[in-house]
Amino acid sequence: MTVAVVGAGVIGLATAFALAERGYPVTVYDPAPGSGASTVAAGMLAPVGEAGFGEDALTRLLVEGARRWPAFAARLSAAAGMDVGYRDSGSLLVARTADDLAEVRRLCAHHESLGLASVPLRAGELREREPLLAPGMRGGALLPEDHQVDPRRVVAALLAAIQAAGVRVVRRAVADLSTVEEPVQVLAAGWRSGPLAGLPVRPVKGQLLRLRGTGLRHVIRGYVDGRRVYLVPRADGEVVVGATSEERGDTTVTAGAVRELLCAAVELVPELAEYELVEARAGLRPGTPDNAPVIGEVAAGAASGALGSAGNRLRLGSPRVFVATGHYRHGVLLAPLTADAVADLVSGRDPAQVVKPFGPERWRDA
Ligand code: GLY
Repeated sequence: MTVAVVGAGVIGLATAFALAERGYPVTVYDPAPGSGASTVAAGMLAPVGEAGFGEDALTRLLVEGARRWPAFAARLSAAAGMDVGYRDSGSLLVARTADDLAEVRRLCAHHESLGLASVPLRAGELREREPLLAPGMRGGALLPEDHQVDPRRVVAALLAAIQAAGVRVVRRAVADLSTVEEPVQVLAAGWRSGPLAGLPVRPVKGQLLRLRGTGLRHVIRGYVDGRRVYLVPRADGEVVVGATSEERGDTTVTAGAVRELLCAAVELVPELAEYELVEARAGLRPGTPDNAPVIGEVAAGAASGALGSAGNRLRLGSPRVFVATGHYRHGVLLAPLTADAVADLVSGRDPAQVVKPFGPERWRDA
């Protein structure tokens, strides 16, 4: 039984990899594999830094997502014969003003209430860990469980690994699922999955920069006079500075966003002004109404509306359709867990308990 995966971003590719590992023949459809939001992403694996107030089920999902990364990175590196840039050196929260510090302390209390690792640090302790920080920082915290990976390496490795596993890649856009012949289909087309499956998935624009230079030790999540910016330094000298979050669907890079990101980044780490500016990009995160992913099977009734959207094409012996999208700010972090969950569902097994609240049925009566 061949499985079609529609979308070759990190979610679709990781799913194709997991299905191929379990012995399924797989065909991946994408007009430009590995060229979407996944290759713009910074690659923070941040279950704690991204733990939002009132999002406890999502936080449990993020924590489990992070737990799967070390084994996934090892498996993928071995299958592809390349390193994927997984670094487990933790992250720092850094506050610029007294108000920023109050926000960070409130976050730390929230982390503590959920049993998540977060260690408050005074200004001097921060500078000891990260000597390039500007002298005026008020304090912050160490998040010892928040790590990083290089999404571009991950995507390249996944493409190599699925090719080695015999997965067929068809370079075409899917505008209507009824044009896909395989009897089992996984829709993992990021924000474009919304219109394809009749699900409320929207694009959320993120602009970010890539600099080049050395010296930063940790991922830094900065709180800079009410603005937020993150810095993700890699072993090869790349430093990602991100990101805007805009309710828009275009990928134009704007001068204003570049200025805002650079101003906040240089306020945190003045030396960044000397780094080479290599790239400015915008990507579109797939967001849902509750900003949590949607992973599960589209029920036959729901699927008929979606599949019929381009002209009532519900067929006899309709395919089973699974969705894996809406990962919003967490696509890279959740890729291994999502891939396992989808492979479980396709095989008729129960996915991990933490995934269950995130099925498409939560909008059926909306
Ligand atoms: N994962 C961080 C972002 O979406 O900007």
